[in-house]
Amino acid sequence: VAEVKGGEDQGAAWVGKELTVRGWVRTCRAQRTVTFVEVNDGSCLSNMQCVLTPETEGYGQIDSINTGASVLVEGVVASSQGGKQKVELKVSKIIVIGESDPTSFPIQKKRASREFLRTVAHLRPRTNTFGAVARVRNALAYATHKFFQDSGFIWVSSPIITASDCEGAGEQFYVTTLLSNSAEGGCLVNSIPSKDGRVDWSQDFFCKPAFLTVSGQLNGETYASALSDIYTFGPTFRAENSNTSRHLAEFWMIEPELAFADLNDDMACASAYLQYVVKYILENCKEDMDFFDTWVEKGIIDRLNNVAEKNFVQMSYSDAIKLLIGSNKKFEFPVKWGLDLQSEHERYITEVAFGGSPVIIRDYPKEIKAFYMRQNDDGKTVAAMDLLVPRVGELIGGSQREERLDYLEARLDESNLNKDSYWWYLDLRRYGSVPHAGFGLGFERLVQFATGIDNIRDAIPFPRVPGSAEF
Ligand code: 4AD
Ligand code: MG
Repeated sequence: VAEVKGGEDQGAAWVGKELTVRGWVRTCRAQRTVTFVEVNDGSCLSNMQCVLTPETEGYGQIDSINTGASVLVEGVVASSQGGKQKVELKVSKIIVIGESDPTSFPIQKKRASREFLRTVAHLRPRTNTFGAVARVRNALAYATHKFFQDSGFIWVSSPIITASDCEGAGEQFYVTTLLSNSAEGGCLVNSIPSKDGRVDWSQDFFCKPAFLTVSGQLNGETYASALSDIYTFGPTFRAENSNTSRHLAEFWMIEPELAFADLNDDMACASAYLQYVVKYILENCKEDMDFFDTWVEKGIIDRLNNVAEKNFVQMSYSDAIKLLIGSNKKFEFPVKWGLDLQSEHERYITEVAFGGSPVIIRDYPKEIKAFYMRQNDDGKTVAAMDLLVPRVGELIGGSQREERLDYLEARLDESNLNKDSYWWYLDLRRYGSVPHAGFGLGFERLVQFATGIDNIRDAIPFPRVPGSAEF
């Protein structure tokens, strides 16, 4: 259907041509002499309006052409009399492939709430909203690879199971499998097997605690220390118990790592990347973006155009704190140099102070940032940067990495992390260390930002959040 209706002429060039459509029935309206069946094949938002008459082969099955049924329709493309579409299909033959009981099909014609649709996540891609989100998500993934590939970055697969905690925040899911007793074996998540309170890791599959990765960065750095610019793009996991509209337990992250680069190069790469993917969907997903603009977040196209065109605001963490204090606004969480910015602060900065522009905040206090970030000359801050966007808050977190062995060892000690388990990471600083920098972008937050979808649970096909791993 996209091939027919997606062109500039909305299908006019197809008039008179034969066409077969396979898809799912959205609605079926019977009039006196003709029946209109709206069929969607998922290739685009538009349905194909299929016009049936009693002469249509298969017309006898009319009672089973219900919402949700799958059908094959053959016919000839014709100009449509109705104002809603340029073309329709005059159907010569229809076959109902899979019936759908209209009394129990969960997605009824009236618009269902997104909360409800989460309970039928297996069927929600059949709706306009979730079909559009899936296509735009796909386009963003494609544009991500295209941007980095065209810029000479090499895609690296970082491991999903790992023994190191990149962020040092202790938010990993444990992956343990007992080898000793296969009857009791299996994946125990976040529960370490112990009979007497002690853990015998020699009996474990990996012979040491292993986790689902929170970030591919440390592994990414090893490849950047050999291949120069690389990126990872894969699933990451966090066992943070935050029931918010911006957190998932399983999310996808894009993590470029640039060799021979500093924080300025990193920020420039993050800005260019974000602008590229935003432009890409505005140009290549017009129909879906119009849909979001009309039904999900009014004005989103203008706002994204702005993002694609304008330079992003940059400011230091210290200036951001001054700005927040100077605003005299009552925030729920305290604002003070040394404390992390909360979502309400981030949103104030991008939404109110800078009128909806993305803002990059840099040079955070080292105490609130991860051990691997490069210490600045002031001894108090690190070369970190967060890119904030309206509604979503933190979209990107990145930094220049500490490439000096002695500084990095000192930071590991200060952070109470065990140096021995980072031996291979420290080796990168022993053998041919280079200044390097990178960032991580939460892909679902990008989908949220690009579509206007307000809850991150609707930006991924099957959300994993506390208390829910159905489907
Ligand atoms: O700021 P974070 O924790 O940074 C890192 O993991 C670095 N290792 C990245 C790097 O420098 N290579 O996470 C990066 C981004 C955040 O800015 C946010 O967009 C997203 O990942 N993110 C989440 N998205 C959804 N659900 C969660 N629970 C998320 N936690 C982080
Ligand atoms: Mg962060």
